[in-house]
Amino acid sequence: MTDYYRKKVHYENIIATFDDILILPGYTDFSPFEVDISSNLGEYKFHVPILTSAMDTVTEEVMAIKMALLGGLGVLHRNCSYERQLEMVRIVKRARSFVIEDVATILPSENISRAKYMMENYNISGLVVVNDDNKVCGILTKRDIPYSDEQIKHGLVKDYMTKEVVSIKPGASRIDALSLLFESRKEKLPVIDEKGNLTGLITKKDLAPEFPLASMDKEGHLLCAMALSPRFPENKQAQDILKEIDNYVDIFFIDVADYFKLIDIQGTKKLMDLLDSDFVLGNIGTYEAAEHLLTKSGLDNEKFIGLKVGMGSGSICTTSIQTGVGAPTMFATAQVADAINDYNPKISLIADGGFKNPGDIPKAISAGADLIMSGHFFAGTEESPGFIDTIAGRKVKVYRGMGSKEARTSGYVTDRYIEGSKMLAEGVSDYVPFTGDLSGVLLSLKEGLINGMIYSGAKSIKEMKKAKIGVITPTGQRETSTHDLIGKY
Ligand code: XMP
Repeated sequence: MTDYYRKKVHYENIIATFDDILILPGYTDFSPFEVDISSNLGEYKFHVPILTSAMDTVTEEVMAIKMALLGGLGVLHRNCSYERQLEMVRIVKRARSFVIEDVATILPSENISRAKYMMENYNISGLVVVNDDNKVCGILTKRDIPYSDEQIKHGLVKDYMTKEVVSIKPGASRIDALSLLFESRKEKLPVIDEKGNLTGLITKKDLAPEFPLASMDKEGHLLCAMALSPRFPENKQAQDILKEIDNYVDIFFIDVADYFKLIDIQGTKKLMDLLDSDFVLGNIGTYEAAEHLLTKSGLDNEKFIGLKVGMGSGSICTTSIQTGVGAPTMFATAQVADAINDYNPKISLIADGGFKNPGDIPKAISAGADLIMSGHFFAGTEESPGFIDTIAGRKVKVYRGMGSKEARTSGYVTDRYIEGSKMLAEGVSDYVPFTGDLSGVLLSLKEGLINGMIYSGAKSIKEMKKAKIGVITPTGQRETSTHDLIGKY
C-alpha cells in the first residue's frame, strides 16, 4: 500500500470505504496462468483466499464442506447450542479423508470364494488380511484371485495373499503416502499403529484429489472452522462439550461485533487455556485496537493466528446507523495491516464484510488483507442454509444479520453485541436473489481477483499487498461506474 494512503488513514482519519479507492494499474511481466491467489491463515494454506461468514443463513455444514473442497473456508456459525455445533464440526471433519477407516478385512484361514464374493459385492479391489487379534499378515487383491473354479472353491486366502506388506503409520501426510506408494510401486497401504494393529487403509485411487484445491489438514480431512463466543462457559458440562468440539476444529473464530473489550480478551485467554486449536480474534477496526491486542493484551501466544476486521460495513448490518460507531472494512484493513506490520507480521488479517462487487476483494488485499470473508456473496447460493422462496417470480433466500431481532430470539448471539441491550437491533433480515451453485459464485470472485492482480502487476497475494491505491473523487466514482445509458432492457 502506498505511504500516501497509510498517512491518510492514520493521521487524518479519513474513513475510506471500498468505493472511495481504486487500485492503480501496474506493470505486468507475467502470463495470466502464473498468478497465484493462494494465501495463508497462520500455518494453514488456502488456494482460494475467501471465507464464508459465521452466520446462520450462510454457513452450516453443507457450506463449510463445499467451501473447504473448493479451496476456501466456511466458518460455522454460533447461533445454536454447543451440541449442534459439535454435530456440525463432526460432519465437516468426517466428510472426507484419504484414509479409509472402515477397512474390509478377511482372515487368512477363510476361503478364496468368500474373498471373491466380498470384492464383487462391496465393489472393492482388495482386502487386508488380519489375524484374530487384528494384526495384519497380508494383502489380497483382485489380481491374486485364481482363475480356476476348483481353486476358488477350495483355496485359502493365506495361500494366495501377498505376505510382504508395505505399511504406513497413523498420521502420515498425503505426501508421505504418495511417495511410499511410488517407491514401493504398490496400490494400497495398510495403516498400522506401533502395536501392529490395523487402523486404516490408504489407496492410490483415494489419494488422487477430485478437488485438487481442497483445504485439508495433514491427515487429509477438510479444515474445519467454527465461531465461538469469547465468554468462557463456567459450567463443567459445557466445558466438556467444548473440549470435544476442539477435537474436530482447526480454527476457532472469536465472534463479536467489537472485540476491543477487556471482558472479551479475558474470556479468550481462558478459552485458549482450555482448548488446543488455533484462534482468530475479531472484529476490530483500528490501529489502536490491533496494537493493543498485539502488544498489551497478553494474548501473544502460538494459538493466536489472525485478526478479523471491519465494523458496520456488512450488507445486513445496522450497527453504524443505530450507534454512530463503525470502521468500514477498507479503512479497518488498512489500519490493522499497519499495526500487524509494525508489531507482528506473522498474524494474518481477514477483511470481513462490506464486499459488494468482486473488485472489492483485490482492493481489500491491496490494503493489507490476507483473506476476505463475506456473507453477502454466499447467502443466495444453493449451499447456504434455508429454503428457496419465490417473490414476484424471482427465486430468493433469506439473509439475516446476526444482530437482527429475528436472529437474536434464539438467545445464543446476544453477547455478540452489547449485552443487556434488548431493544436495539444491529442488523436486518431480508431476501437476497438465489444465485445457484457455490462453485459458480466462487469462480466469478476468483476471476475478479485474478484479473485485478494482473492489471495491478501482482503475481501473488504478497505482491498485491504492495499495489498502489489512491482515493477517488465523487466525480471519479461516477465516471468509473457505468453511466449515461438509457437503462436495462
Ligand atoms: P456482508 O457485507 O458480507 O457482511 O453481508 C457480513 C459480515 O457482517 C457481520 N455481521 C453483522 N454486523 N450486524 C452487524 O453489525 C449484524 O447483524 C451482522 N451480522 C453479521 C459479520 O462480521 C459478517 O461476516
